[in-house]
Amino acid sequence: MIREILRMGDPRLLRCARTVSEFGTAELAALIDDLRDTMADAGGVGIAAPQIGVNLRVVIFGFQHSDRYPGAPPVPETVLINPILEPLGAETEEGWEGCLSVPGLRGVVPRYRRLRYQGRDEQGGRIDRTVEGFHARVVQHECDHLDGVLYPMRVQDFSRFGFADALASQMGTAVPD
Ligand code: NI
Repeated sequence: MIREILRMGDPRLLRCARTVSEFGTAELAALIDDLRDTMADAGGVGIAAPQIGVNLRVVIFGFQHSDRYPGAPPVPETVLINPILEPLGAETEEGWEGCLSVPGLRGVVPRYRRLRYQGRDEQGGRIDRTVEGFHARVVQHECDHLDGVLYPMRVQDFSRFGFADALASQMGTAVPD
């Protein structure tokens, strides 16, 4: 079912989400179905449970091709629960981000370039990956939602934060919202 996506300003986006303790349940499956439907409807590359008002440490992400990020390499479609992120090295890189909870806007955000992430899938199976670049960026963005952090809170240069259509020349491409 497509759910309403909470927008920045809603205090439910600022909470620290709760750890999932039971896997393979009907409730968890229904939540993941709703996240998938809502993300697909909005054309996003990832979504976190708090964005639909569910205060649990569950994110999904991944795509073969994204109209929002046309140059981005594919990221495997992933359900990630109770994630633990470990930056590999101090190196960061800047990149454009948007968020389904911040419609119409884009901004440049520094993120760790390389990352190991661990967590569980919907059946409780272990996930343990080492990634870099856009994949690492997506994971950092989505997992921030579990701690009440939205990407505008990480923008450092506000000359590169604004409305997607107005920023098109700076971004090098027109990115639909
Ligand atoms: Ni987001």
